[in-house]
Amino acid sequence: MGVAIIGTGSYLPELKLTNRDMEMMVDTSDEWIITRTGIKERRICPKNKASSDLGYEASLRAIEDAKIKKEEIEFIICATITPDMYFPSTSCIIQKKLGLKNIPCFDFQAACSGFIYGLEIARGLINGCGYKKGLVIASECMSRLTDYTDRSTCVLLGDGAGAVVVSYSEEDGIIDSFLSSNGNYGNLLFTPAGGTLKQSSFETIENRENFMKMEGSTLFKIAIYTMAEAVEKILKRNNLRKEDISIVIPHQANLRIIAGVAEKLGISIEKFFINIEKYGNMSASCVPIALDEAVKEGKIKKGDLIITVAFGAGLTWASNLIRWIK
Ligand code: ACO
Repeated sequence: MGVAIIGTGSYLPELKLTNRDMEMMVDTSDEWIITRTGIKERRICPKNKASSDLGYEASLRAIEDAKIKKEEIEFIICATITPDMYFPSTSCIIQKKLGLKNIPCFDFQAACSGFIYGLEIARGLINGCGYKKGLVIASECMSRLTDYTDRSTCVLLGDGAGAVVVSYSEEDGIIDSFLSSNGNYGNLLFTPAGGTLKQSSFETIENRENFMKMEGSTLFKIAIYTMAEAVEKILKRNNLRKEDISIVIPHQANLRIIAGVAEKLGISIEKFFINIEKYGNMSASCVPIALDEAVKEGKIKKGDLIITVAFGAGLTWASNLIRWIK
């Protein structure tokens, strides 16, 4: 028995924050943002909504796409670094919104690599624990961690959610996953306050320590190296050549990072699905949203071999090898 993706869905909030808008907020320019990152606009979740709302909408679409009844869902797992609150989990909140009861639901996080980790967790739940169908969601409101006075980070981030229905299957859909991390690089990308180490206080708010901090240029180089490694390793251990891959679904952190990975691997950038210009970096949600769009745009056909690949805070990096069986 195998495990396969049988439905995909995504949801982007309507509100757009364009580069022109950013020009009015910080000392930047449309030209700088496009040439240095490839981003033109990003979506922002309204103040009265949260990650669970985006994840719920994406889940409804994935369930509809899978042509199953929502009651067939036997677990819900959600990758997020921007949960609605510490607890209950965003997965449990989505469960309630979906009107489902008495199934396991939990969140986990590997930052931008979260969805890729999630597919492997789901594969384990189905193969190892006997569940038949489940939802793997990634939902992020990165705008909530963004310092809109810091031009080096605020132009990069956006909000959105993606979801897939995974199911036991006679054909192997999720063939393999490569997961890795290195905690020594944790200081390159983090939020100093708001956790148990440094609780939120007037001081942390004043010092803007509840927002994401990042060493962009160091991360840039590590991202290219680690994402290329994640692709090379998964190809090698499955005895595949680069030519066997139909499409690569990369994390959308920076167009120049994607181009760097393509060059390092010797795979044409044409094989990489890119939608960064519309949404920016939505952390874990980038990969499932890109996967959903690639499927809906007819860029993925039955039988295709797909590689997903990401890197993120932790640092984490990961890839999945997927055969599209739908
Ligand atoms: N507008 C105009 N100028 C800017 C901006 C901006 N928005 N941001 C930075 N600059 C300036 C810098 O101040 C610097 O000026 P200086 O030379 O006078 O000091 C100059 O541009 C070059 O800065 P660099 O940081 O060297 O620019 P770089 O080409 O490295 O691009 C970027 C910066 C886009 C951040 C890039 O390093 C990057 O994408 N890094 C990876 C980031 C990433 O993916 N992080 C993951 C975050 S999300 C997550 O995981 C949850």
